[in-house]
Amino acid sequence: MPMNIAIDGPVGAGKSSIADGVARRLNILHLDTGAMYRALALYVLRSGTDPDDEAAVVACCQKADVRVRYVDGAQHTLLGEEDVSGLIRTGEVSAAASAVSRWPGVRSEMVRMQREIARQADTLLDGRDIGTAVLTDAPVKIYLTATPEERARRRYLEQVKKGDMTPYEQVLRELNARDQQDMNRAVTPLRQAEDAVRIDSTNMTPDEVVETIIRMVEDVYGRKS
Ligand code: DC
Repeated sequence: MPMNIAIDGPVGAGKSSIADGVARRLNILHLDTGAMYRALALYVLRSGTDPDDEAAVVACCQKADVRVRYVDGAQHTLLGEEDVSGLIRTGEVSAAASAVSRWPGVRSEMVRMQREIARQADTLLDGRDIGTAVLTDAPVKIYLTATPEERARRRYLEQVKKGDMTPYEQVLRELNARDQQDMNRAVTPLRQAEDAVRIDSTNMTPDEVVETIIRMVEDVYGRKS
């Protein structure tokens, strides 16, 4: 059985960078499942489809051909042969990803692909439903969170670094809106699995969070030499 680690949590909790850090330390794959929903959202936007039109979005899911490839251990997310990794981090795609991910027909297809990847290799998956739906038997499950204000502050600082001057108040508003959508959708809404360990990173450095998770993994799987 490959090693499987599940990390879930709301937007801006630091999941992606923490997951990258843990996966690098353990020398295992990191599957950013949000990137898959984002790639589909990009396809939906490009094709002029309304993300709120369930039947049309599910039809896109069949056509979009979302794929994941690893190059030197780093995930590349593709639509067919096109590498869209650099195009899926915009605000427009974020909002559309949140919208398209609420359709059951989309989720079942994404979950199928994610399970397939996790079955083949030691993998850490991060997302919203990994511990509650994708890998309910994962031996290590983490729910990573922080206060909305701290998450918005981190997101704001990240965006400023990239030259995006969206005001903090707007970042916080958009983050709260995405939380609402992700936590209240009908199918596998974002919530902590009963057997997940909750880590509140509000007052922790990224290194402290990585160390905490590594210790949990070692408790379950033993120390990797
Ligand atoms: O983690 P992220 O911000 O890249 O995710 C983008 C959107 O995709 C997010 O609003 C919710 C959705 N998502 C999901 O529903 N299930 C996942 N496992 C990962 C992401």
